[in-house]
Amino acid sequence: MASPLNKTIRLSSKEKVSEVDTLPKKITRMTSGIFQGEIIQALNDLQKNYFNLIIADPPYNTGRDFGNDSDKQTENEYREWVKRWVGLLPRVLTSDGSLYICCDWRQSSLYEEALHNAGFSILNRITWKRDKGRGAAKNWKQNMEDIWYAVRDKKKYTFNLEEVKIPKKVIAPYKENGKPKDWYLKSDGTAERMTHPSNIWTDMTVPFWSMPENTEHPTQKPEALIERIIRASSNPGDKILDLFSGSGTTSVVSKRLCRKFIGIEMNPDYVRLGVKRLQILDKKK
Ligand SMILES: C[S@@+](CC[C@H](N)C(=O)[O-])C[C@H]1O[C@@H](n2cnc3c(N)ncnc32)[C@H](O)[C@@H]1O
Repeated sequence: MASPLNKTIRLSSKEKVSEVDTLPKKITRMTSGIFQGEIIQALNDLQKNYFNLIIADPPYNTGRDFGNDSDKQTENEYREWVKRWVGLLPRVLTSDGSLYICCDWRQSSLYEEALHNAGFSILNRITWKRDKGRGAAKNWKQNMEDIWYAVRDKKKYTFNLEEVKIPKKVIAPYKENGKPKDWYLKSDGTAERMTHPSNIWTDMTVPFWSMPENTEHPTQKPEALIERIIRASSNPGDKILDLFSGSGTTSVVSKRLCRKFIGIEMNPDYVRLGVKRLQILDKKK
């Protein structure tokens, strides 16, 4: 019997056969939703210069051994596919828009190259310490993911620093004229200051079974990670494209933070999971 602490969101047998929406022909300012579709098709169909922020979490192809000669074709196919869809992103992003692409170390250089080729300015590569995954017997445990951060125009883009500052313990609280210099006292008597976030994120784990956001999707991103990106690189009312939506994490957080969103996912069961999460969010309001 499942533990009562297990909060994983699952589809009922009725939900598993429910209709899923496909991308409407015309997107208006009021359109928000998760749609079943293939991303290259969707990127060709979507309006030009429409989204302020794109968050893409593509499949990593990790089941393939790219070091094996017999699999060269597959590596090339993946490379060509990445070039194709990354090349379509500038068309749908506003000229002051931002883009984040998640990947693991094996594909990281491939995405860097694809972003350059597509004309993006790369501003950073964030490393997220995932803190989950099996250890390997003859290798270091795979415990990180990269998130490429790029913009169309490095002179004009949104970055809301104050929204994403993080608290840090102050070891030597310094006073000026008897008053704390940029720190504050917490109720437990320790001192803390809000600091600039770095490109190494160690404070969020992958969702697990006792967390209410957890679903059956095998590679679901934590809401906290997506929230940091959305708060930094968009404003309420902005339009966000959730590419490779999976269980809908980016769409759910966009909705919670009052942004418009379009999620694109090819697997109908994952679309249904995302839609279910949006409904759960509605009920909380
Ligand atoms: C890494 S997962 C995304 C997980 C998601 N960020 C979440 O939090 O649940 C990648 C997803 O892309 C979907 N996918 C793969 N190829 C696709 C394509 N060509 N078009 C649309 N979706 C695709 C897969 O079904 C999978 O759910």
